[in-house]
Amino acid sequence: MISQQQEVNTRRLSLYSQIFLYGDFMPLNFWINPQQCSVELENFNSDWKPYQPQKGDTGREGLSLTSLDGSLSGYPELQSLYEYTHETGHKVSENDFNKLTPVYDQVSAIREVVDYFKPYLGRSRFVRFKAGGHFPPHRDQSVQYQVPDYFRLFIPLNNTGENNLFFIYDGKVISYEPGRVYLFNALKVHTVFSVHNQAMTLALSLRLEQESIALAIKKLLVR
Ligand SMILES: [Fe+2]
Repeated sequence: MISQQQEVNTRRLSLYSQIFLYGDFMPLNFWINPQQCSVELENFNSDWKPYQPQKGDTGREGLSLTSLDGSLSGYPELQSLYEYTHETGHKVSENDFNKLTPVYDQVSAIREVVDYFKPYLGRSRFVRFKAGGHFPPHRDQSVQYQVPDYFRLFIPLNNTGENNLFFIYDGKVISYEPGRVYLFNALKVHTVFSVHNQAMTLALSLRLEQESIALAIKKLLVR
């Protein structure tokens, strides 16, 4: 008899693998102007929150583009959801964080890409790094199942690029273009490390659905 767990994983895998048959780290035909983004974010200077503060000072702060209630409180969306669920017993998934915060209204630089994927948008945020700020090696997994029900976009913005912000993916330093939107398989080990002060990135989470995958594949830069 097929267990419920196996059934969920099999369904998700059939979707997830449709994307990553194409590659692991892929540029999309979207570009966000990093400079414009920084200027438009100035109104939110006091809204940045420590990112996973329980892990000590990892030199990074987050600003929510989406949250559970549309607020900029940072809780719990800037925590590890795995740990939040473990500690509180409340099950939350990436896809529950789907209310846009005021950042969406005021930052027009990101609108084209966000509007394109809007019905599928989950937990999404800007991250700002100090020099030495980093995400240690990790995989973005599912809390309950072996295959996640979301996939990730990574957008390097101001003060990123060669010799500023290192994206180490599956053991290799990735070369990327600041402002470019990348689709990547976040199940493989990745590390982000900034040697520049005030390096900024945007991470978008998208609900895994046939339609969201079709939209993403349509935007692959090389087709
Ligand atoms: Fe990650």
